Amino acid sequence: MKGIVLAGGTGSRLYPLTRIVCKQLLPVYDKPMISYALSTLMLGGIKEICIISTPKDLPVIEDFLGNGQGLGLQFTYIEQPHPAGIAQAFLLAADFVDNQPVTLILGDNIFYGDYFYGEGGFARTVRDFHSGGCIFAYYVSNPQDFGVIEFDRTGRAVDIEEKPQRPKSNYAVPGLYLYDGRVVDVCSALTPSARGELEITDVNRAYLERGELQVQQLGRGTAWLDTGTPSSLQEANAFIEAIEKRQGLKIACLEEIACNQGFIDRQQFQRLIQALPECDYREYLERFLRQSDAAV
Ligand code: G1P
Repeated sequence: MKGIVLAGGTGSRLYPLTRIVCKQLLPVYDKPMISYALSTLMLGGIKEICIISTPKDLPVIEDFLGNGQGLGLQFTYIEQPHPAGIAQAFLLAADFVDNQPVTLILGDNIFYGDYFYGEGGFARTVRDFHSGGCIFAYYVSNPQDFGVIEFDRTGRAVDIEEKPQRPKSNYAVPGLYLYDGRVVDVCSALTPSARGELEITDVNRAYLERGELQVQQLGRGTAWLDTGTPSSLQEANAFIEAIEKRQGLKIACLEEIACNQGFIDRQQFQRLIQALPECDYREYLERFLRQSDAAV
């Protein structure tokens, strides 16, 4: 399974915060927003990751993340010269996808909970995925702001609508999507919507119409936050701060996840620590190392 992080867009709803730095590099409590999206792919066991952003922001993101080697990952960077919808990501990354299954995550979506951090959840979904598409359904109070799934009485998904004025359910589609390699062909056949975008909802509909779309419900034990407005960004900050302080464990600590996933060994982890200045983040990684040594 390959992965794509889409970190494009103008971030206009967060202006003027996004005038200098792109949305996906804004802080969410103690780390840049994009770390959360990357962590989700890593928790799914995905190592080959393509990052798509604007010509202006891509070099800054690349400066932050490098080639991924230190984390046992392989990053590919692709420019999105003109934003034309989420589905455009697959056209831009067609060579990267190379007909393989691929997971797309939006760079402003944050997922947290046992489904992602525990055994047998997302990692298993990724492992067991072979063909078709797989999306998630999450109960929200404001479905009209998202892609919305309509279910029949038996709980089968029958339709998906993009930001409907009259939503047929409270189940929104989060920005995390798994597809087989045919997704590139599906996207090539799309026409832009009324708002001039290649809609991810149309991709999902295409798979649904063929009877090849799996819809998994993310239960109440999972947090899905998006961070596109000042107030949702603020809420995400408060959420991450509350959980991290309570547990003394970091959410989306990429070094820790790389080590836990076996992407890097103890020596490689130590090298990552040595490259850091004295700071709380370094102390956290040192404590993680001591505790994992003690557990061996
Ligand atoms: C996009 C998608 C929408 C999805 C949402 C998740 O919305 O179009 O279907 O539910 O991401 O964050 P947008 O980012 O355009 O508001």
